[in-house]
Amino acid sequence: MNKDIMTRLVRLGEKIPQSTSIPKTVPIYMSSSFSFDDVETLEDIYNGESKGYVYSRISNPGQDVLKEVIVGVEEGQAAQVYSSGMAAISMSILAHVKSGDHIIAGNVLYGGSYQFLKDELNKFNIEVTFIDLKNENIEKYFKSNTKLVYMETISNPLMEVIEIKRISTICHEHNAKLIIDNTFATPVVCQPLKLGADVVVYSATKYLCGHSDVMAGVVISDKDTIDKISHTGCLYGPTLSPFDSWILTRSLRTLKLRVKQHCDNALKLAQYLEKHEKVKKVYYPGLASSEYNSLAKEMFNDNLFGGMLSVDLVGGEKAVWDLIRVLENIKFVPSLAGVATSLSYPVKTSHRAMNDEELKKAGISKGLLRISTGLENIDDIISEFEEALKRI
Ligand SMILES: Cc1ncc(COP(=O)(O)O)c(C=O)c1O
Repeated sequence: MNKDIMTRLVRLGEKIPQSTSIPKTVPIYMSSSFSFDDVETLEDIYNGESKGYVYSRISNPGQDVLKEVIVGVEEGQAAQVYSSGMAAISMSILAHVKSGDHIIAGNVLYGGSYQFLKDELNKFNIEVTFIDLKNENIEKYFKSNTKLVYMETISNPLMEVIEIKRISTICHEHNAKLIIDNTFATPVVCQPLKLGADVVVYSATKYLCGHSDVMAGVVISDKDTIDKISHTGCLYGPTLSPFDSWILTRSLRTLKLRVKQHCDNALKLAQYLEKHEKVKKVYYPGLASSEYNSLAKEMFNDNLFGGMLSVDLVGGEKAVWDLIRVLENIKFVPSLAGVATSLSYPVKTSHRAMNDEELKKAGISKGLLRISTGLENIDDIISEFEEALKRI
């Protein structure tokens, strides 16, 4: 190239090397935008006459590969991917409502979702009624402007299981959509679309990624709904980066293996803790003593009940603080679903936006410790709890 060094620096190495070999894994398309030989080619893509990429906020090959895996695993029609679980949740909700609409939501939810529904939607004049979906008669809360119901399959942090079929039937009788956060269950444990949900959302930051190194969110639904959510998402802009799309796709390859081990370990740990004198109550739907056990057996696959459990400790808040301090090898992390077992204290982390009255109403006590069971050998996890409980 007979040009100045500045020109050579910016123009060389721009073409993808031609090759007859096919890469074994899909490469990362680390490109914000795409180029075209002429305007007609770009027009054809915009008009849907040919398949192509324009700008990575709209779509990127790595996102499409990720969507293909997610749609196949969840057995839905279409998916969209975002830069966090909250982005997936907020885009899915905002795509369905306008000023003056009404939403019904479960009263035990991840704190961020609760805050978004309670405070953020208020700014748009969207009313949200929080109810106890297990015990209250949801029928009486529907209004002519109720557009959707929002809930979690396994609620954070009390591990309640709510009957999806019943809620979805009532929703559809009232022309409302059911959006379910399936983060704690994963598609290995439960597939809400098969039980009548219209939209499934995930914080993919958790089990779908599973290694505590990516922030991501995904939404699965029918094609028209995903088009609608994608349009909203494209305008707000919480796009998933090409690198994170790639690493999440790779992580999904081992989802079933990981989730099975998380679930097996959680059940054994719950059974152990249930008998411990310093534990008042264990919240885990896999326990025969859980009020959700028979429903969970009906709704969940392969007798799996998730990797998350919570415990109410004798000694309340002080016992939680002490246990966190003495469990030296088990980290205190305000997240979950990594390969290593970790602890969280909901009232000071995920649910810190709830005031005392809201926490009481939801049944979240100050002695509640949430455990994300990892993939370690279960005997090691149990003996560490045994030792630590002796010291508090
Ligand atoms: C059940 C649940 N849903 C959604 C979220 C939000 O996901 P993210 O942190 O990826 O935005 C979380 C985060 O902890 C969660 O636990």
